[in-house]
Amino acid sequence: MEPPESAAGGRKRRRRGGGRNRRKPSSSSQQAPAPAAAPPPPSSPPSKRRRKDGTGQAAATPKRGNTSSLLDKMRARLSGGHFRMLNEKLYTCSGQDAFDYFKNDPNLFDVYHTGYREQMSHWPEQPVNVIINWLKSHNASWTVADFGCGNAAVAKNVKNKVFSIDLVSDDPSVIACDMAHTPLEPSSVDVAIFCLSLMGTNYPSYLEEANRVLKPSGWLVIAEVRSRLDPNNGGADPEKFSKAIIQLGFSLVSKDEKNKMFILFYFRKKDKSKVAKSIDWPQLKPCLYKRR
Ligand SMILES: C[S@@+](CC[C@H](N)C(=O)[O-])C[C@H]1O[C@@H](n2cnc3c(N)ncnc32)[C@H](O)[C@@H]1O
Repeated sequence: MEPPESAAGGRKRRRRGGGRNRRKPSSSSQQAPAPAAAPPPPSSPPSKRRRKDGTGQAAATPKRGNTSSLLDKMRARLSGGHFRMLNEKLYTCSGQDAFDYFKNDPNLFDVYHTGYREQMSHWPEQPVNVIINWLKSHNASWTVADFGCGNAAVAKNVKNKVFSIDLVSDDPSVIACDMAHTPLEPSSVDVAIFCLSLMGTNYPSYLEEANRVLKPSGWLVIAEVRSRLDPNNGGADPEKFSKAIIQLGFSLVSKDEKNKMFILFYFRKKDKSKVAKSIDWPQLKPCLYKRR
């Protein structure tokens, strides 16, 4: 369905209808034609419906309803497109580029998160909730760093002290930075979380930063989109991904693959962790959302 075209078509038919009604037509036909990309002007309902409805009042109600739902649909389509563009940007640039990009226009962050929430509303389970429950079932005295915190759901739902980190902050409790370089002290946190946030092309540098700020024996909890770690669909080999993190100085404690949309990894930093000289990091496939 192409709403703007059908609205324009309606106007055309009415103009051909002759001069006698020129002063009578509905308000829509008096408006200047909208530019192609703009929302359509309100249009009269099809003449068939008018005859059926009998009164002007009855015809006007569905007209307004139809127009606003059309506008809503168009707005949703535009913001959905904007979200997908921003999402692709985040997956295909470095953390520093993403930081500079959002710094220039912090409103884009809201556009991204509105679209992200919409996408996530279709997931049967939210990975961030699994992580929140995991934290709640452990130690409330642990200090947590939530790398790529989004709307800081972790900090809002647990008793722990949480350093929430993201590219943009409209909340004083969120640290705005590229998470490859946080202001956190070395060996200062017990848990580092990456919930769907290993987005940048330089994602290994985020994990190196987590390694720097984690205490010995600290937990590294990673939730990632399943398709990014599906070698049958161009994703990375999850074994290779785990191996790289083990080479960074961690042990894999457990892997939770029961969720349809994401995989969870629970690593622990070794007491005497030693970073391998060279680590073979697999490339993680960008997670691009389809138009709904
Ligand atoms: C997919 S969202 C997930 C948000 C949140 N963790 C959740 O599960 O609801 C990923 C978040 O990571 C953030 N992010 C991506 N790259 C980042 C970087 N280099 N530094 C800081 N935050 C980053 C994005 O801005 C975004 O808010």
